[in-house]
Amino acid sequence: AASLRDLADRRHVLIGTAVDTTALAEDSAYRATTAREFSSVTAENVMKWEVVEPERGRYDFSAADELVRFARAHGQQVRGHTLLWHNQLPAWLTEGVADGSIDAKELRKILREHITAEVTHFKGRIYQWDVVNEVFEEDGSLRDSIWLQQLGPSYIADAFRWAHKADPKAKLFMNDYNVEGVNAKSTAYYELAKKLRAQGVPVQGMGVQAHLDIQYGFPTDLAANLARFDRLGLQTAITEADVRMFTPSDPAKLARQASDYRGLLAACLATKGCASFTVWGFTDKYSWVPGTFEGEGEANILDADFRHKPAYAALREEL
Ligand code: XIL
Repeated sequence: AASLRDLADRRHVLIGTAVDTTALAEDSAYRATTAREFSSVTAENVMKWEVVEPERGRYDFSAADELVRFARAHGQQVRGHTLLWHNQLPAWLTEGVADGSIDAKELRKILREHITAEVTHFKGRIYQWDVVNEVFEEDGSLRDSIWLQQLGPSYIADAFRWAHKADPKAKLFMNDYNVEGVNAKSTAYYELAKKLRAQGVPVQGMGVQAHLDIQYGFPTDLAANLARFDRLGLQTAITEADVRMFTPSDPAKLARQASDYRGLLAACLATKGCASFTVWGFTDKYSWVPGTFEGEGEANILDADFRHKPAYAALREEL
């Protein structure tokens, strides 16, 4: 049977997965499925700041380099995730800001050096970078992070300019959750993109994470939301799709989940500039969901034994 990536190739869309690099190293079934089913990979964790710069100025790209090598060997593209976030920052950075040993001027320099070093390291090997991740609150105000507190709102334009300088060919994205539909948060991104582009800031894509939960119902205005970014001239992407449920599953829940996955993919396929559709892991064997959402799980398209769930069949049918 044709794999997801075979089918996606014909639709000229990339089908991606987040990769747990520990599982990739240790689990041959995981490795084989990653290679067979996907045309794009995202590092689930190993391109994040706490991993790549564990001490100030000392970079460790070894785990990420392994993934890039794997991708290359299997003809896969790599999504870069992520350059600026409020989570998974190294302790030296958060503690330095908290105790005042890193002031605003210094923090701006640290951010510039980090973005420049990381984007330069992977130059030419990343097709989309999540430059800023989760910078808005649900009400559309900017998130109250160390970045906003210390640097003010201009840190966002700076981050895009620095990333673009280091790799002019990579498509530079904003990325967030709860921005599937048209709402205050997604509208804040839309307005920000419009403003930045008018100012000539190189922002080129909107990433919709799509961490869904079957109990909340499908965001039926997803395609309309993607379309407005499309009209602005931005690429779009589904970047972290998973659909969780309270466990254990049953056939009705799995059918709901399959329908949600199908809806996410259909909205991407209906959008001209939707370049990639990425799931946040593909097997229930390795998923961030049970550790994050109490009582929930089984959010992926394959079960813990790599058997196809209805969601896998739904994606194949939709492609
Ligand atoms: C998650 C990873 O899946 C976990 O392994 C890690 O412990 C925490 O981060 N939004 C994002 C991702 O942008 O980086 C997050 O990934 C999930 C939510």
